[in-house]
Amino acid sequence: MYGRSVHTQRREVTEALLMQEPMETAADKSGAARPQRSGFMKSLAQALPPEPKAGEPPAKSPVKVDLRQLRGKYERHEPISMVTAYDYPSARLGDAAGADMLLVGDSVGMVVLGQDDTTEVTMEMMVHHCAAVARGVSKAFLVGDLPFGSCLTPEEAAANGVRLVKEGRVGAVKIEGGSRVLPHIRAIVDAGVAVMGHLGLTPQSYTALGGFCVQGRSAEAAHALLEEAKLLEQAGCFGLVLEMVPEPVAREITRQLGIPTIGIGAGAGTSGQVQVFHDLLGLYDKKVPRFSHQFARLEAPMTAALQEYVLAVKTRGFPQPRHAFAMPQAEQRAFEQASEATAPPDAPPRALAAAHAGAAPSRTRVVRTVDEWRRLQAEGLVPRGASLGLVPTMGALHEGHLSLVRLARRDNTLVAASVFVNPKQFAPGEDLATYPALATWERDLAALEAAGVDLVLLTRTLTLPSPSP
Ligand code: KIV
Repeated sequence: MYGRSVHTQRREVTEALLMQEPMETAADKSGAARPQRSGFMKSLAQALPPEPKAGEPPAKSPVKVDLRQLRGKYERHEPISMVTAYDYPSARLGDAAGADMLLVGDSVGMVVLGQDDTTEVTMEMMVHHCAAVARGVSKAFLVGDLPFGSCLTPEEAAANGVRLVKEGRVGAVKIEGGSRVLPHIRAIVDAGVAVMGHLGLTPQSYTALGGFCVQGRSAEAAHALLEEAKLLEQAGCFGLVLEMVPEPVAREITRQLGIPTIGIGAGAGTSGQVQVFHDLLGLYDKKVPRFSHQFARLEAPMTAALQEYVLAVKTRGFPQPRHAFAMPQAEQRAFEQASEATAPPDAPPRALAAAHAGAAPSRTRVVRTVDEWRRLQAEGLVPRGASLGLVPTMGALHEGHLSLVRLARRDNTLVAASVFVNPKQFAPGEDLATYPALATWERDLAALEAAGVDLVLLTRTLTLPSPSP
């Protein structure tokens, strides 16, 4: 073998393994014959650390998922879970959730960058996002997509595959396409990079496929998919994504292949499932595919939290003293004396500026936390023997609320109104998530001020202790 490149030697070894070792079959638990690992997978397995033997104590957590563990799951018929991730926080979340694999999909173009499809995504973007995800992962096996136009030749595919490993720190790359990309897959494998295939709906070429629609619906098209899947396995793919393929077709491909199939819109017969992070969590505002399920709708609570922040800034509820940094008093005095000399002649006196910064918009005080309430009590806001009338509201105030305020005003020393959206007052399916307590805040506060309210309790969880007697 002397005189030939490592590249050529690797290809010869891989080809020899593929040609010499016919696919073995073994009966699975259900009695059905299922193909076992291909020659390439055996050679890959030999390159990996040994699996722990039965009876050995479980390795310390977190155990990094590698191709051997994925292979083990596949052979034990344990479903493999994969979710997309695009940055450090989504990687941490997917990893902490226990996903076996994270995919830095070129869907990043759509769900993160707001593009119309995936064709604008570049290698630079993929490297950038893969590296961010790699920094957030401690356990899951990381796969990165080779984007549209990055694999025009086998050489380019290999070079970009190597780049995603070197710079993006992925464990494997995914390439879309069937027979057309077989030489590319071989070239990437020869370069020492593990490859996942992607068949069915391949979003990078969705226009050529007639849009985002199910592939392999006719017997002929389904058969062609099956043949292509086998070719991808033979070319060295360690796994295969099947997207928007009829369930019976995906099931049959899974039965006939010796590598895991990971389905998305391919039914329950595949070795595992992959979903897009933003679809699962209800964070994508455009079309949600029929094959995805929103396990949470996080847009509304995230918006509500941000609205609270904006409101806290407007009403001077944020920052609190604990969010600020002090300086030694002597240094502060020295600084203030020195800076007086450089102050513009029309700068307001320091005491006045401080009063403006700390002042409430009127005598009505807005209280958001129990701590704030305790502070006001300690400052003597509610004098001994004073009575406090409380008008509980959910915001969006009208004359009914204000008449209650007036009654409370008539009968008490102090009047408080709470603005608290109580989830218990909403039946399932009612508009709790979009209820406008914060949206109408400025109007509500003005109305309460005008009605002479002393305290407004603005809170998400109302746990206000009673005032001391
Ligand atoms: O880019 C992506 O997110 C994908 C999945 C849909 C499989 O390729």
